[in-house]
Amino acid sequence: MGDKGLLHDKIIMITGSSSGIGAAAARVFAAEGAAVVLMARREGPLRELADEIRAEGGDAEVAVGDVTDAADVERAVGRAMRAFGRLDAAFNNAGWGTLGTALHETDDDVFDRIMDVNVRGVWNCMKQQIPAMLGRGGGAIVNTSSTAGLFATGVVSPYVAAKHAVLGLTRAAAAEYGGRGIRINALIVGSTRTELLEQAIEAVPQLEQAATSRAIQRRLAEPAEIARAAAWLLSDDASFVTGGAVPVDGGCSAV
Ligand SMILES: NC(=O)c1ccc[n+]([C@@H]2O[C@H](COP(=O)([O-])OP(=O)(O)OC[C@H]3O[C@@H](n4cnc5c(N)ncnc54)[C@H](O)[C@@H]3O)[C@@H](O)[C@H]2O)c1
Repeated sequence: MGDKGLLHDKIIMITGSSSGIGAAAARVFAAEGAAVVLMARREGPLRELADEIRAEGGDAEVAVGDVTDAADVERAVGRAMRAFGRLDAAFNNAGWGTLGTALHETDDDVFDRIMDVNVRGVWNCMKQQIPAMLGRGGGAIVNTSSTAGLFATGVVSPYVAAKHAVLGLTRAAAAEYGGRGIRINALIVGSTRTELLEQAIEAVPQLEQAATSRAIQRRLAEPAEIARAAAWLLSDDASFVTGGAVPVDGGCSAV
């Protein structure tokens, strides 16, 4: 990394940036010299985060919206284009899951919601981001999958299916656009200390032990540890990495 930062001068869109891994990514990317476009549904936390980044001397724009809504995603990419003139990279991180009820007891609307946020969300984002990146001759995308994208972790089955689908979309898109300069990777995120997981642990305290028992490093990840891996994948340092299922899971997927 040079003095100017790993992501110097890059324009990066981050979805799900109002909390957890996405908010950590906004801070890490900005500290590494990127201008960030923050997308999530909650305006208040997004504006606070953007103000914090600007106060540190960084550049941040806010695009309030829902990734399940293609028009909202189009507006967010448009915001990057209007504010900065281009989009260099994207971290498609917004996602949602719930605790593991048995498949036959899980409501259909839970299935629909999980597929919508995790899979359609990434689909909507890549559909809008890719043309913007082709317009400038290439780019880089990281999509947030999970250890649940590789095997049954014990979480609710539609989430396992959805994160497998995120990995499938990532590989297919990487193959389609690699020749035109766009690198696309998936992060295999292990259990991470965020709002999503804290709420689940509050409801089921034994979950923390269960979530970490399988890994080599038996602890939860901090959101910034996931964000730093995303920063590297989006940087030019990862120039020969594409179509990857990159584990940031304390070795959970190795054993
Ligand atoms: N925390 C973990 O243990 C863990 C493990 C593996 C994968 N993940 C994945 O990491 C990603 C980030 O999760 P997190 O743990 O930081 O959760 P979080 O709940 O703290 O943050 C999720 C973010 O996504 C946003 N979001 C949710 N639905 C959205 C929608 N429809 N449109 C726009 N934004 C939306 C939320 O507002 C929030 O900003 C998710 O894709 C999640 O599935 C998390």
